[in-house]
Amino acid sequence: MRYREFLRFRLKDIVPDEVILPAGFHVVGYVALVRLNSELMKYASSVGEATLDYDHRLRSVAVRTGPTKGIERKPAYMVVAGSNDTTTIHTENGVHFKLDPIRVTFSGGNKGERIGMSKRVEAGECVVDMFSCVGQFALHVAKRNEVDVIAIEINPEAYRFLVENIRINELEHKVSAVLGDCRVVHPTHVANRIIMGYLHNTEQFLPHALDTLVEKGGTIHMHKATSDKSLQESITSITRTCKERGFVSDIEVRKIKNYSPGVSHLVFDICVSLK
Ligand SMILES: C[S@@+](CC[C@H](N)C(=O)[O-])C[C@H]1O[C@@H](n2cnc3c(N)ncnc32)[C@H](O)[C@@H]1O
Repeated sequence: MRYREFLRFRLKDIVPDEVILPAGFHVVGYVALVRLNSELMKYASSVGEATLDYDHRLRSVAVRTGPTKGIERKPAYMVVAGSNDTTTIHTENGVHFKLDPIRVTFSGGNKGERIGMSKRVEAGECVVDMFSCVGQFALHVAKRNEVDVIAIEINPEAYRFLVENIRINELEHKVSAVLGDCRVVHPTHVANRIIMGYLHNTEQFLPHALDTLVEKGGTIHMHKATSDKSLQESITSITRTCKERGFVSDIEVRKIKNYSPGVSHLVFDICVSLK
């Protein structure tokens, strides 16, 4: 039975028929993350208990209480059923991520890009992940390739999970974790490839990414939440920043997902070489 039908049946004596129930939920390890409309919030614990019965692999159900905030992209969730210990292990294509999904962001919608990125990388490369979080890109890339990865993260809580995940996946010989602001702590002239998995005003970090590339250039994958109207402006600005640093750039744009009305999560694949 589908989730919504299951909820309707289970909650028929509690939730009025006219209240729209959620069609699904996002699973990270043993934790279900559910979005409820404002009318349903007062029934959140009933929805949570029903969700635990719907999928017996779950141990906790949390509902979203607000937008993801700040440079650390901290999500806002509240546990409504099951265990309050929401630290879990999420496994994706053989890579294990230990994390607390109600305290650090882990986007299900980026899974294809994480796996796809691990296939683009070539043996022998040095890859710098400037916004590593718990290792979403860094671990996939290192698991599949003979490469060196430098994973930078500013949030100490996400960094601790990153360090643990490097150990859990036995990737200590390939991945080194760096705690700090990538604009300050990035290494200089070492990378063949750079991953910039951060959506907000990402262009401000591009000069630092260019300084991180080896002198002859390389490839930068710059993620950005971009409106249709501002796409050309972004391409012009990337081209200009590369030029100011003495590089020519060849840019391809890919869409990852819808981000908000009129705004898409895009990746700018920027191939950078000397003029
Ligand atoms: C939304 S998460 C994305 C994680 C992963 N890159 C992905 O795309 O799935 C962005 C991460 O970048 C980190 N971050 C933000 N600003 C940073 C900075 N200046 N230097 C290093 N990390 C930063 C945040 O703490 C957060 O963990």
